[in-house]
Amino acid sequence: MNENLQFLQAFLKNPLNVGAIAPSSPELAAEMLAGITPHDDNIVLELGVGTGAITKFLRSAIPSRGSYLGIELDEDLVKTLNKNYPDMNIICGNAAEAYRIHEESGLGKVRYLVCCLPFVSLPKEVSEMVLTEIEKFMDEGCELRIFQYAHGYFLPPAIKLRELLKNRYGKSRRSPLVLKNVPPAFTLTWSTV
Ligand SMILES: C[S@@+](CC[C@H](N)C(=O)[O-])C[C@H]1O[C@@H](n2cnc3c(N)ncnc32)[C@H](O)[C@@H]1O
Repeated sequence: MNENLQFLQAFLKNPLNVGAIAPSSPELAAEMLAGITPHDDNIVLELGVGTGAITKFLRSAIPSRGSYLGIELDEDLVKTLNKNYPDMNIICGNAAEAYRIHEESGLGKVRYLVCCLPFVSLPKEVSEMVLTEIEKFMDEGCELRIFQYAHGYFLPPAIKLRELLKNRYGKSRRSPLVLKNVPPAFTLTWSTV
C-alpha cells in the first residue's frame, strides 16, 4: 500500500496517537536527522516510527543494524515496516516503556533520541510516562529532538511541553521553519551530552 494512504489509515484508526494526516516530508526528515552520527556504542532511538518517513533516511546514516532502534505502537505499521526495512531494528511497543525495551534489546547507549510522538494530542498520562522514559535517557547523556507543527506552536499544550523540557534540559535549539511539510514544522533539540 502507498505510504501516504497507510499513514492516513493509521490516523483514521487512532487520530490522537498519530496526530498528523501525512508522514513527515524528506525536508523535515533531513532537519530531524541533521548532525546525527550514530554508531554501535552511540545509537539512535526513534520513538513513533509511523510509516518510516524518517527511518528511510536514517538507513543510510547508520553504519550498521546495531546503531538503530525504532519503537512503534501500531501493529499494522510495524508489520509493513519490518517488511520494508528488514535491516533495521523496529519493535512493536510502547514508547512509555522505551527504557526497558532498549535494555532488553542489548544495543549500545542511546545517544540520539528522535521523538516523533504527537505530545499535543496524546493522552496526558501517556505523555507523562513517555517524558519519564526520555528523562532516563537524558540522565545518561543524550540529545533529544522533536518536531512541533507551526499551526499548533503557540497553543498551550505545545508551550507547556517546551517549558517542561526547558526546565529539565535548558534552552532548546530551534530549526528554521520547514515549509515543505504538511503542515510546516520546527524541530527542537535539547542536549545533556
Ligand atoms: C506524527 S506520527 C510520526 C510518524 C513518523 N515518524 C513521521 O515522522 O512521519 C506519530 C507516530 O507515533 C506513534 N505512536 C503514538 N503513540 C505511541 C507510543 N506510545 N509508543 C510508540 N509509538 C507511538 C503513532 O502510531 C504514529 O505512527
